Amino acid sequence: MSTMKNNFKDPDHHLHHHHHLYSSWSFSKLMAFFFLLISISYLFYSLRFVSHSYDCDHNHHEALHIPIAREQISQQESPPFEETNVSHIVFGIGASAKLWKQRKEYIKLWWRPREMRGVVWLEQKVKTDPSDERSLPPLRISKDTSKFKYRNPKGHRSAIRISRIVSETLRLGMKGVRWFVMGDDDTFFVAENLVKVLQKYDHNQFYYIGSSSESHLQNIYFSYNMAYGGGGFAISYPLAVALEKMQDRCIQRYPGLYGSDDRIQACMAELGVPLTKEKGFHQFDVYGNLFGLLAAHPVAPLVSLHHLDVVEPIFPNVSRVEALKRLNGPMKVDPAGLMQQSICYDKERSWTVSVSWGYAVQIFRGIFSAREMEMPARTFLNWYKRADYTAYPFNTRPVSRNVCQKPFVYYFSNALLHDKASNETATQYTRLQQNPPCKWKMEDPTQIKLVEVYKKPDPLLWDKAPRRNCCRVRRTKKKGSLVIDVGECRENEVVEL
Ligand SMILES: *[C@@H]1O[C@H](CO)[C@@H](O)[C@H](O)[C@H]1NC(C)=O
Ligand SMILES: *[C@@H]1O[C@H](CO)[C@@H](O)[C@H](O)[C@H]1NC(C)=O
Ligand SMILES: *[C@@H]1O[C@H](CO)[C@@H](O)[C@H](O)[C@H]1NC(C)=O
Repeated sequence: MSTMKNNFKDPDHHLHHHHHLYSSWSFSKLMAFFFLLISISYLFYSLRFVSHSYDCDHNHHEALHIPIAREQISQQESPPFEETNVSHIVFGIGASAKLWKQRKEYIKLWWRPREMRGVVWLEQKVKTDPSDERSLPPLRISKDTSKFKYRNPKGHRSAIRISRIVSETLRLGMKGVRWFVMGDDDTFFVAENLVKVLQKYDHNQFYYIGSSSESHLQNIYFSYNMAYGGGGFAISYPLAVALEKMQDRCIQRYPGLYGSDDRIQACMAELGVPLTKEKGFHQFDVYGNLFGLLAAHPVAPLVSLHHLDVVEPIFPNVSRVEALKRLNGPMKVDPAGLMQQSICYDKERSWTVSVSWGYAVQIFRGIFSAREMEMPARTFLNWYKRADYTAYPFNTRPVSRNVCQKPFVYYFSNALLHDKASNETATQYTRLQQNPPCKWKMEDPTQIKLVEVYKKPDPLLWDKAPRRNCCRVRRTKKKGSLVIDVGECRENEVVEL
């Protein structure tokens, strides 16, 4: 086993092997070979020189005349490079009249009427509130789809209407569009992070960007290559143009499919465009408490949250809408850092600290490794309402049954710009739930009532290679508080005790 490893690891070993082969030849054979080699090289070089000089001449010719013309073209035709911003995105939101009254409250949470463009597509007219008009996208009624075949026994034919939103939104002919972003009426978008993700891709090419489900079985039934519609997905402008041309014919070829997003994926497969996965789009095909997933978010910008009616409110003791509203504070001061995890230790007290910035801080008695802490704890149930660790296409860890290993959870309560000169933010986290008594003879986080986290915003975080932030527990005399610094890891800083 170990020799095999060495063979693969050591490139010199291979060199040595070859060298040995050559040295077994006799000296005279080697000399003859040497002369032959020189003559061949000479011949080769002289030929190459001839062809090369011809090439050179040719290039030279071009160099004299063509580049001037090219420069003129580039000045006239391609405008200076403009980075993608929110004005280049058009949202297409699939909604239903029946649920509109509740669901519109989710859209109001993230929609910025002056900056964003988009349309909510409904199947029929709804009662509108005059005050809503200023806080929601314009509403439109989708075209009739009764002529399309729908043969799935479990689904609903509204899937056809929803999947055509891409094409119907394109046909509105809005100007300066780079991306169409689809979402449901219960999808919450973090716009800054959506823009940041789309900036990475060339909108002049064909891109289909989103994420798969948290449910392994759903991904098997539908497709691992499908962007789940509720988590939201982005389609670049030229791809939307290509899709629009064929979508109605394509839809007719798949009457048996269940939803709108698998119909989109079927057409993408015909167009030959694969899904570009971005981990920040969240379909959330789970039940119960999202805490474990949000406290150990992957190192990727948080783009969307979905199934807001299905899961519990993300903060305890408040309504679903109130809970999401609470994210506005951290989103304003440092959207890139929202729900980014950092892991560190309080060495003196032997505690493990895990920060999910802008959401929650956990203190554990004892030392847990980074590889353990970066796995989401299974605080949630799977899509079939069971506690099943094999249900997910990613690693999770069990919630410990030992009362002493239950984390002390501090939920985000307050964000402020702490220091204007350095832009440092201060966020506060408080405990809302009691922990059960524990008999371990070690320092107890019960006395800690408040966690303060200091962090400089890092707008360029996602322009760099992904890396988890580091945190450090500050020495403080403040009774009842834990003070933590979060930021880019320093040189040689790693999560170790
Ligand atoms: C977005 O980009 C366009 C140019 O493509 C520019 O005119 C506009 O001012 C930008 N908007 C914002 C909010 O930066
Ligand atoms: C919040 O709700 C939990 C039950 O979900 C309850 O035990 C706790 O006392 C409540 N806390 C506050 C501050 O209302
Ligand atoms: C603080 O933020 C402002 C606005 O975003 C920026 O212009 C300034 O350079 C930042 N200052 C520091 C020290 O990062």
